[in-house]
Amino acid sequence: MKYGYFDDINREYIIDKPDTPTPWVNYLGSPEYGAIISNNAGGYSFAKSGANGRILRYVFNNFDQPGRYIYLRDNDSKDFWSASWQPVGKDLTDYISKCHHGLGYTKMVADYAGIHSETTYYVPKNKSYEVWAIEVTNNSNQIRNLTLTGYAEFTNHSNYEQDQVNLQYSLFISRTQFQDNRIIQQIHGNLNTLEEDEQVDEKNVTERFFGLAGNPITSYCGDKKAFLGRYNGYDEPVGVTSGNLGNTNNYNENACGSLASQVTLAPNESKTLVFVLGEKSSREAQAIIQSYENAKESVTFEIEELRSEWNNRLEGLQVKTPSPVFDTMINTWNAYNCYMTFIWSRAASLIYCGLRNGYGYRDTVQDIQGIIHLAPEMAADKIRFMLSAQVDNGGGLPLVKFTHNPGHEDTPDDASYVQETGHPAYRADDALWLFPTVYKYITESGNISFLDEIIPYANKGEATVYEHLKAAIQFSMDNLGPHGMPAGLHADWNDCLRLGAQGESSFVALQYYYALRILTLFAKQKNDTTYLAFLEAEQEAMGQKIQELCWDEDRFVRGYTEAGERIGERQAPEANMWLNPQSWAVISGLASEEQAELAMDNVFNRLNTNYGAILMDPPYHKHAFEGALAVIYNQGNKENAGVFSQSQGWLILAEALRGKGERAFTYFMENAPAAQNDQADIRQLEPYCYGQFTEGPASPNHGKSHVHWLTGTASTIMVGCVEGILGLRPDLGGLKLAPAIPKDWEQFTIEKTFRGKTLHISVENPNHKESGFTKLILNGQELNEAYLPEELLQADNTITLVL
Ligand code: GLC
Repeated sequence: MKYGYFDDINREYIIDKPDTPTPWVNYLGSPEYGAIISNNAGGYSFAKSGANGRILRYVFNNFDQPGRYIYLRDNDSKDFWSASWQPVGKDLTDYISKCHHGLGYTKMVADYAGIHSETTYYVPKNKSYEVWAIEVTNNSNQIRNLTLTGYAEFTNHSNYEQDQVNLQYSLFISRTQFQDNRIIQQIHGNLNTLEEDEQVDEKNVTERFFGLAGNPITSYCGDKKAFLGRYNGYDEPVGVTSGNLGNTNNYNENACGSLASQVTLAPNESKTLVFVLGEKSSREAQAIIQSYENAKESVTFEIEELRSEWNNRLEGLQVKTPSPVFDTMINTWNAYNCYMTFIWSRAASLIYCGLRNGYGYRDTVQDIQGIIHLAPEMAADKIRFMLSAQVDNGGGLPLVKFTHNPGHEDTPDDASYVQETGHPAYRADDALWLFPTVYKYITESGNISFLDEIIPYANKGEATVYEHLKAAIQFSMDNLGPHGMPAGLHADWNDCLRLGAQGESSFVALQYYYALRILTLFAKQKNDTTYLAFLEAEQEAMGQKIQELCWDEDRFVRGYTEAGERIGERQAPEANMWLNPQSWAVISGLASEEQAELAMDNVFNRLNTNYGAILMDPPYHKHAFEGALAVIYNQGNKENAGVFSQSQGWLILAEALRGKGERAFTYFMENAPAAQNDQADIRQLEPYCYGQFTEGPASPNHGKSHVHWLTGTASTIMVGCVEGILGLRPDLGGLKLAPAIPKDWEQFTIEKTFRGKTLHISVENPNHKESGFTKLILNGQELNEAYLPEELLQADNTITLVL
């Protein structure tokens, strides 16, 4: 079953069957003002945090309501409908709907009873409020008298828990009033005698507004109950059925912003109305609403601004391959997904709203990787930020608060940090993620001097980037387990694997090994000879240790518990084969060719499914060791043998590094959202974004996917595709080209910006290989390897690579 299709030219996904299996959403705005909107206008708005900055209410787990609703009423027939299919939900034989999710905007197109409406929702570029612009056209042959009603349900408190479960407090702090062209909601309005910088119990007045430009307001309502009526739902609010909002404000209980406007349209006549919503003082709100007096022009201009901003963000890499799925994901949707996780971390979605008030260290450092090839400087700013959240002992702060203050933070060694964040200890892997991320940035940008930039530590002191990286190595060395591999500390990448503070994870050991390799490249660059000698010896010794301790005939094991139990070995009755140690043995460069082949074949035979490879097998049930938290999940879900999509990216990369294009591409396709567009009833999630996991074969719902949008999957798959399948592998001196593709791809092209220069790359595959090198021609000159040295590049370059 299929609910929509991709429009690659306009970079839109268009949903033409609105009764999707789950709400299919889009993200608008920036951390200053963010908005999530579903194909039925459900969703909420928030500043920074979905949990602590809620402006619009949304009730999780409850039919995708409420939302940003615009109702249309024919005042002659008294029939009414909504600009999105829900909440009124007209019969789909009479109501034609198309929801266009675009980059930074969502447009709902509806046709009903001869009235055509196009409603565009967006947050204007660099602004912190949202716009719902509706253009309504009379396509019938009579004059039509309509009332258009916009409805926004404010929270009574910015903290969603206060709003949802502490009503004995939150119902008595909110009130609304109507002024000129808007409803104003005040939270703690009774504190209006305070100065702006004064507070009572850390509180002052918060003001929100919902206003209308483009047409006069005929009635208003600021009270939810008065709008809906006592026993009506959003599908049939009294304020709409009666054609009059009753001009009610509220004092206590639930606020809302609702504004009605009458529009009379001759045949073929159109009218644009603009609803505007935000958290601003009444004075600022007045000016914002006024700026939309020329409704249609303002909206057209602002949408154009968003489109060109997004085109600029994406144009650094565009490909044309024989696979439309690959192209739409790499050129638009996976890239957009990467920007969203980069911008929002895990702050907000329709099934999670980030109770934690900050960024997870490892998550954010990984998320950065997804945009480096498109926006290296934007990435660099976030890398600086994350380095400033590294403690001077080299470990990362497990949670970096939204209020992060470099140089002045407490650390997991302080009871205050543990109490405030709920994170009891360092994690073994956090700071190790810096290595691939910093390497990718430096090699993409060519900015080697980044290593010398001075950046503060989280708690005290400062150091160059190079020294920060050395500190991360030192942190692992200072925290070795009894066998000499890095100790597990609180956990590694896998939140559900607690090997114990002294346990040892093979995944972390492989990350550490990889980190040593990367730092070796930097140390060579810096002529840091003594340190270089140390790194080489350390890498050699650690490599041997991992080989002795972790190789088990045809697989790498998952590690050792504190009690000495070996996890993931062949004989174990459960969880005897794990995915990540196999892919990371390849990525880190540790596995010999023979080991890589055995381990990766084992992955393909044991773990792969139609929807990607599961995280481990068999799932935990009867034989879980004490730290195997995965057993709390139903089998086949999440870390308990689900297809954990993030790991799929490393798998794609590992196969591609081995030159196995067929396998790499198979893994890509199995889990690619766009490849499942016509299986939406199985996958359930949006066909244009990744989810955290897909249920594995141990579940009766194999193939069903969950936890949409904000997932590390976006960046690992992007890296797997760009560095792996496309084979774009920058290093300090230039760009290596090493595609690993399906054999039947005869030709494909890549348009790439690299260090400010343009590359037009054509890859020819006349002999149907899956990788390899026959010939490279750069601007007419034949080179003897598949490598573009930076010094040979001109402003504009034509490149042909023959495999
Ligand atoms: C979730 C967490 C991430 C963790 C992963 C595996 O995606 O956000 O930090 O690495 O699960 O457990």
